Amino acid sequence: MSSNFGTLFRVSTYGESHCKAVGVVIDGCPPGIRLSEADIQKQLDRRRPGQSELTTDRQELDQVSILSGTENNITLGSPIGLKVNNKDQRPGDYGDMESIPRPSHADYTYMAKYGIKAFSGGGRSSARETIGTVASGAVADKLLKELYGVEIVAWVSAVGPFEAAPADHTRISREEIDKTDLRCPDPAQSEKMRALIMSLKDQGDSTGGIVSCVIRNVPAGLGEPVYEKLEAKLAQAMLAIPATKGFEIGSGFAGTRMKGSEHNDPFVMKDDRLGTTTNNSGGIQGGISNGEIIHFRVAFKPPATISQPQKTANYQGDPVTLQAKGRHDPCVVPRAVPIVESMAALVLIDMALRQEARTSVRPVS
Ligand SMILES: Cc1cc2nc3c(=O)[nH]c(=O)nc-3n(C[C@H](O)[C@H](O)[C@H](O)COP(=O)(O)O)c2cc1C
Repeated sequence: MSSNFGTLFRVSTYGESHCKAVGVVIDGCPPGIRLSEADIQKQLDRRRPGQSELTTDRQELDQVSILSGTENNITLGSPIGLKVNNKDQRPGDYGDMESIPRPSHADYTYMAKYGIKAFSGGGRSSARETIGTVASGAVADKLLKELYGVEIVAWVSAVGPFEAAPADHTRISREEIDKTDLRCPDPAQSEKMRALIMSLKDQGDSTGGIVSCVIRNVPAGLGEPVYEKLEAKLAQAMLAIPATKGFEIGSGFAGTRMKGSEHNDPFVMKDDRLGTTTNNSGGIQGGISNGEIIHFRVAFKPPATISQPQKTANYQGDPVTLQAKGRHDPCVVPRAVPIVESMAALVLIDMALRQEARTSVRPVS
């Protein structure tokens, strides 16, 4: 099972939904960086379950402990161990799910692959695994901000059929997004999204949605063609998040309906660098950042575990009706916002360190 991500800033996550603890080891964080638990906790608080009526009722405070890799709140360059204890485990909550694979969840495929699985709460396929991503992503995010002034902001841009009005990519901020628990900056559409989620929660059903993300102040030159193009790594990172079904960068699928003359991003001098007047490329050309804002969207499916009875089959193939139990999110996108930001930060810091390594080598004179 591959639970590692990154080349120079390398993270290894661990944990299942109802085990003792979940977390991550970060190898390759530069020394001498100020880092405290509070720096990490902020993003974990935005991800945690039970934070609003829109999310699962599982109550977890998700308090992070830094186990190693810092002294007096300064990184040492050695591996940073981060741990969050699971507190509100109820492994007995999952009844029938031991004999019946949940439709569109990971139960059947984990069994097919490993011949064994943690039946409580999805085990490793649970979104609790994303704690390691978010904790390490918070460290990456801090580094990116301090070293380059990079700002990463994600928000809910659609829930079911309701789409938010386009946001101003140059100004949108986490403070603005966090004004509501839905994390959508369009108040009118937010109300419709909220009503839909609450009514589906009452009906024991679920809905999907879209998270949009911008990354500002990215220096030109990040990305490793050919197989590790920046958009390819972002796509891989985003599609590694549970429940994702689509990734679109820049003009995305809409670009297929444009002419080249409409789609091209003309160059212009911006302060001391070459920039572009439009940004259909989404800030990346040839797999390398061009200094413009990187913008992309991630599609999330409706969570698979719904409490309505579902006609399906057990592991033996007998037709059965599944009455799923446990506590579940009716829509994942409000909680997915910090996960998308964290995955983006992990990709960017790794690419930035790789570019630093390349450019720090000088020819012998
Ligand atoms: C923040 C977040 C919360 C989630 N909560 C649930 C949930 O409560 N119930 C559920 O069935 N799936 C939930 N999921 C999705 C499952 O983890 C995911 O669908 C499952 O592991 C199968 O993987 P796949 O959808 O990527 O194929 C959540 C995903 C995220 C990102």
